[in-house]
Amino acid sequence: MTQDQLKQAVARAAIEYIKPKLGGDSIIGVGTGSTANFFIDYLGEIKHLFAGAVASSDASAARLKNLGIDVLDCNSVSELVVYVDGADESNAYLHLIKGGGAALTREKIVRAVSKEFVCIADGSKWVDVLGKFPLPVEVIPMARSYVARELVKLGGTPVYRDGVVTDNGNVILDVYNLQIIDPVGLETRINQITGVVTNGLFAAQGADVLLLGTNDGVKTLYPR
Ligand code: A5P
Repeated sequence: MTQDQLKQAVARAAIEYIKPKLGGDSIIGVGTGSTANFFIDYLGEIKHLFAGAVASSDASAARLKNLGIDVLDCNSVSELVVYVDGADESNAYLHLIKGGGAALTREKIVRAVSKEFVCIADGSKWVDVLGKFPLPVEVIPMARSYVARELVKLGGTPVYRDGVVTDNGNVILDVYNLQIIDPVGLETRINQITGVVTNGLFAAQGADVLLLGTNDGVKTLYPR
């Protein structure tokens, strides 16, 4: 199967997984990226089963609206029944790296508001140790150089993602050469650097379930 076919398979599986959880007034959290896009497209087919969605990016919001799905402001919602999104890496604890699409801060907010996070990913995202994928860090533009120097002190090699401005008006540093043995500790440590908005480690609050696309079918994995 191609990577796109694996992404489509997990997006389909996510629809089946969430269906029993939906009621007429349910609001769903919807993520960002190519896997999330497949999920959004399938979501259009069951839009009569829920009330609306909160999106983790302007791009996903536009895609949802195109399908006639109501997109709500996160501030008007007290709880999302479920959040479905992709990831750049996952380990066996379902600690994730996210933010390849620069939507990490809104993704973390949507995750925080959601009762359950269903991560959908093709098998290439599964790793023993997080960090081969450069860790995205969203930074207030004025603090870019300072934060980069602090990230070097932590052993990483930060690279400015040239030309990218997040939906929140900030910049992204991608941190290479990290071997993330303690994801919760590093997530907390990086978030303490002045000028950091957030980083792409989803470890303190990781995924609750991972639907992983493999050539042997979609595996349903829970945190070790
Ligand atoms: C968006 O900012 C990311 O967190 C995505 O969830 C992640 O990059 C996975 O994207 P793909 O589904 O395109 O691989």
